[in-house]
Amino acid sequence: MTERLIFDAHCHYDDEKFDEDRDELLSSLPEKGVFAVVTNGTDIETSERALALAEKYDFVYAAVGIHPESAPDTDVSRIGEYIDKVAKLLTHKKAVALGETGLDYYWDIPKAEQHIIFEKQLRLAADVKKPIIIHDREAHGDTMDYLRRYSPFGLLHCYSGSPEMLREVLRCGDMYISLGGTVTFKNARVPVEVAKEVPIDRLLLETDAPYLAPVPFRGKRCDSSLIACTAERIAGIRSMTTEDVLKYTKENAMRMYAI
Ligand code: NI
Repeated sequence: MTERLIFDAHCHYDDEKFDEDRDELLSSLPEKGVFAVVTNGTDIETSERALALAEKYDFVYAAVGIHPESAPDTDVSRIGEYIDKVAKLLTHKKAVALGETGLDYYWDIPKAEQHIIFEKQLRLAADVKKPIIIHDREAHGDTMDYLRRYSPFGLLHCYSGSPEMLREVLRCGDMYISLGGTVTFKNARVPVEVAKEVPIDRLLLETDAPYLAPVPFRGKRCDSSLIACTAERIAGIRSMTTEDVLKYTKENAMRMYAI
């Protein structure tokens, strides 16, 4: 691929799975067709690391925020201090979004804390007018309640809901939907229906690297170049060319992240 068409809307290049060869890998991505990536923090420390990577590489941008899995390490009685720190990191010129944040009911994480952390960040993203990257794992009902209440601008990442929920998400605010490797999995039925239905001007592609590598790399460490496989699968589902899927999703990501 000569033209750089891959925009990875959500990944984690600070993850320890990249410790051995992070620089080598990141340096190789542009020649593999990668135009830009948005690497996400999951707490203050990893958000700072995401920004450090964004400073080092032109094509790397950062999202900063507190993930629901970081809730147990977050003293919510001092939530104001955490939010002030996130707000400060968001002023960095390569911080293009607040994230990732959201709700996770798959793991046994206290819900009350998750709700406080998520709601504060919904408000902050609206205040600073930056997109928010939302994680919703087995928490569709409560996630929808927040979307209805706040009508946010942002991204529902690694979307795992139904086509019906998708229609409601798109009515709620200024939301984009990103799809990753799961759409290529053999047992993917709902993700395929969703891939068919997302309006083309609302669709983004992501890896969630190092996780969720697409077929035929399932189970291996994922990196942004593998988005080509996800795009090819979506192109098949939507009867489009892979190049068009990459072009539209890149354009959408650039618009949403204001890059
Ligand atoms: Ni993620």
